[in-house]
Amino acid sequence: MRTLLDKLGRPLRDLRISVTDRCNFRCTYCMPKEIFGKDFPYLEKAHIMTFEEIDRLVGIFTRLGVKKVRLTGGEPLLRKNLSELVSMLSIRDLEIALTTNGVLLPRYAPALSAAGLDRVTVSLDAIDEGTFASITDSGHTVAAVLAGIEAAESVGLGPIKINTVVKRNVNENEILDLISRFSSRDIAVRFIEYMDVGSTNGWKMDDVVPAREILQIVGPVKSIEPSSPSDVAKMYRMEGGGQVGVISSVTEPFCGSCSRARISADGRLFPCLFSNSGLDLLSPLRQGAEDEFLEEEISRFWTSRTDRYSEVRTDSNNNGNKIEMSYIGG
Ligand code: GTP
Ligand code: 5AD
Ligand code: SF4
Ligand code: SF4
Repeated sequence: MRTLLDKLGRPLRDLRISVTDRCNFRCTYCMPKEIFGKDFPYLEKAHIMTFEEIDRLVGIFTRLGVKKVRLTGGEPLLRKNLSELVSMLSIRDLEIALTTNGVLLPRYAPALSAAGLDRVTVSLDAIDEGTFASITDSGHTVAAVLAGIEAAESVGLGPIKINTVVKRNVNENEILDLISRFSSRDIAVRFIEYMDVGSTNGWKMDDVVPAREILQIVGPVKSIEPSSPSDVAKMYRMEGGGQVGVISSVTEPFCGSCSRARISADGRLFPCLFSNSGLDLLSPLRQGAEDEFLEEEISRFWTSRTDRYSEVRTDSNNNGNKIEMSYIGG
């Protein structure tokens, strides 16, 4: 196995793979309904990687040092027979995780667990049904997400993490309720600063609730040592027990230790969540390229990587050309 270092000395360790650009939610900050309607040009099936293609790429990435694969979307559970992909990947020396909005977990958690999925992270921005409905804009309920979390727990897909994007004047007042719902159950809630990903959500700095402020709302906490240098969340132990995390992507970026590469569902490799162009891996793969060729292409790509968008964010580079989160995954 090789260890590839980029231009800033960062190893390639994590791979996030989007398996679909579709979602059954229409979160206003991610896939606003006005833009992601019936006529939105979603990827065509013929341009989406098959499971065999994903597995082949993952094999190459493991030889280049990847230790962790996260399946994302859109909503990854919309991809038919996803557990078959998990089962193919599970024979490799990898941790396999999944990020989901949770509502399809009651249906799929048992098969995913049996196929070898290690754990799930569930996105949940509010406990109050009204607030949840106004954010997710799709007719799904908090109750359905909670049922998904229970289903995942009951088949051993833990430790489960909850991801909550915090947006000013939308859900800061959900922070304490979310914590009290999960803290007694060994489920950590991680609060994420709302980011300027994509170009459809009308992001403004005023909408960001800084991690510092989130921690003030949480109350007294003690910092926990990170388990890996590339962890995005800073974790804390709360006085009353339980853990809470903050992901300060805007106010205290963590690009210095970013070991994550991303592949879109149509097989493009992106060096950063905020990139606007990616390396097409699917075309050469379909044209019969050997593994060695792809391995060299990926090595060249990673070793020339200089991206650190969140550390150099300015009004002028926060322009309208960035890819959407639903295309590249979280
Ligand atoms: P584990 O540590 O394996 O549980 O996963 P993770 O925390 O790396 O992954 P997750 O997808 O749960 O990340 C949580 C959130 O942090 C994402 O939804 C993003 O909002 C944010 N995030 C993750 N990776 C990055 C990154 O590389 N850059 C930035 N700016 N934000 C990120
Ligand atoms: N800022 C921060 N996090 C976001 N996510 C989606 N859009 C944004 C954004 N603009 C999060 C989702 C989910 C993960 C896939 O990405 O809430 O947890
Ligand atoms: Fe919401 Fe996640 Fe779907 Fe985006 S991908 S609309 S954040 S559930
Ligand atoms: Fe990594 Fe880009 Fe996020 Fe920085 S902004 S942590 S380089 S994905």
